Amino acid sequence: MCGCLDIKDAGQRVILNGWVAKRRNLGGLIFVDLRDKTGIVQVTFDDKIPEELFKKADSLRSEYVIGIKGEVRERTAKNANLSTGEIEVFADDLVIYSQADTPPIYVKDDDNVDDNLRLKYRYLDLRKLKMQRNLTFRHRVTKLARDYFDQQGFTEVETPMLIKSTPEGARDYIVPSRVYPGSFYALPQSPQLFKQLLMVGGTDRYMQIVKCFRDEDLRADRQPEFTQIDLEMSFVDTDDVINVQEGFLKKLFKELLDVDISTPLPRITWHEAMERYGSDKPDTRFGFELKKLDDVVSGCDFKVFTDALNAGGTVRGICIDGGSSFFSRKDIDKLTEAVRSYGAKGLVWIRVNGQEYNSSVNKFFSQKQLSDIAEVFSAKDGDLILIVSDKSKVVFDSLGFLRREIAGRMGLLDDKQYNLLWVVDFPLFEKDDETGKLKAMHHPFTSPKAEQINLLDSDPEKVNADAYDIVLNGVELGGGSIRIHDRDLQAKMFEVLGLTPEECEEKFGFLIEAFKYGAPPHGGLAYGLDRLVMLLLGEPSIREVMAFPKNQNAQCLVSDAPAPVDDEQLTELGVRVDK
Ligand code: AMO
Repeated sequence: MCGCLDIKDAGQRVILNGWVAKRRNLGGLIFVDLRDKTGIVQVTFDDKIPEELFKKADSLRSEYVIGIKGEVRERTAKNANLSTGEIEVFADDLVIYSQADTPPIYVKDDDNVDDNLRLKYRYLDLRKLKMQRNLTFRHRVTKLARDYFDQQGFTEVETPMLIKSTPEGARDYIVPSRVYPGSFYALPQSPQLFKQLLMVGGTDRYMQIVKCFRDEDLRADRQPEFTQIDLEMSFVDTDDVINVQEGFLKKLFKELLDVDISTPLPRITWHEAMERYGSDKPDTRFGFELKKLDDVVSGCDFKVFTDALNAGGTVRGICIDGGSSFFSRKDIDKLTEAVRSYGAKGLVWIRVNGQEYNSSVNKFFSQKQLSDIAEVFSAKDGDLILIVSDKSKVVFDSLGFLRREIAGRMGLLDDKQYNLLWVVDFPLFEKDDETGKLKAMHHPFTSPKAEQINLLDSDPEKVNADAYDIVLNGVELGGGSIRIHDRDLQAKMFEVLGLTPEECEEKFGFLIEAFKYGAPPHGGLAYGLDRLVMLLLGEPSIREVMAFPKNQNAQCLVSDAPAPVDDEQLTELGVRVDK
């Protein structure tokens, strides 16, 4: 292959196939940079070859597909920027397999072309060495996962893609049935129910590298169609699941990045994660931890704070070491604008200037009061304190966002540092913002902590789940839980969620039915494979590690999906489109 040749091959005859990356004619010499997935090598045609061959070489253009035969020779002028830069291949034979029109995008790693154009001409984009490296790396991750879990006694089992809706919380993609007009399949949001059925079926340890489909708003780490490394185990508790996963992560980081991960990984409760980082997926590569200011500001003259407290909210802040000179007034205005999208109505700032405090709320606070606030953070000269007051959710979301945003702007996010941790003890339920009803934070099969089952009736919001998420540098890599395997407990869970027996039957009847015939205790987890590969490669988006991703508007620009279908096809499916 082109990128595999080096000085040790000098004197060898080789056959190379690939794409023309560049051609230069220097009179008596034609240089062709030949590219395949492994790299680029210089192929040289000199005037010692037959004239016809020389002419043919001169006709080559970018992205022509060719094959050459020739001899590897040491170069006189070496190119240190190229892995093959010490050698060149003197060609004495050439075939042109395909000609190419001028490509609409450059096949260059550092080309800054519009994303939609890259996605439309993805096959050209994929010729970039970086993209091929990413695909190969992804392949290494899946291979290592399959090998590791195989050694741990897991069996890879495929689960169906045309199913009834799974309760993962997003919207489903649905597929109309021709045989049952008016009925629809859903594409799985995850294999959740089927992997549980596999446990009931005695599979004991299941794994699958599987496509999942969720119709939700897209972000850099979210695609409508993505891949999970999905796992489930029988007769286990949380520690058993975590131990197997830590073995996997340790091997993954060592073999693919040569990074030693020290295990056991830190575990932090959901509650502590929110209190300290304002996020259930904390990035612990830097500080700026949240501090509660409810007590210090309780009697102050600033109505915004006291109103929030009186309404049952909270006042919290973060302190940015050395942030005062880093962030101008204008910068803070921009950050204030940014936190509005998390529901915050404003952002209070305090700059520590030696013994003095300069603040956006100077009018309402004495220097002593500001100093008391600064004391909570042990703030020093040059620090910047940012405060939000509101409902807890707004405060946590805003400060959680600010921590990471500010760390990014200050250059504190080292993508070669890998801070992995488990977030455990999630609340079992959360309140739905719109309906005010309780809903399952993970899914309704997540087991409550055994010692809190008695609170399900009296104080369900206090009950924690036997659930765990694995977090890497502020991104949720994966999540899972120990499941309910007891019929009565499952019925209680549905009751607390306000599901009628009919609704349960309709949604999950087959799982409940299966539990009647002997369900083992079981639990599992699923990693987002795309996210995992993205983070290991230090890429900014999961699109960089998927061959044919959708764009921000959930379109596949290569094939132009989604697209209308024939009326005939619709009629056959019993579907009428309301345009
Ligand atoms: P969950 O919904 O947390 O759990 O998903 C598991 C992991 O899948 C990844 N992920 C995504 N990646 C890309 N695009 C998306 N739209 C997307 N949505 C989720 C995340 C996430 O952590 N059945 C449960 C697992 C279990 O309980 O065993 C489940 O699917 O990295």
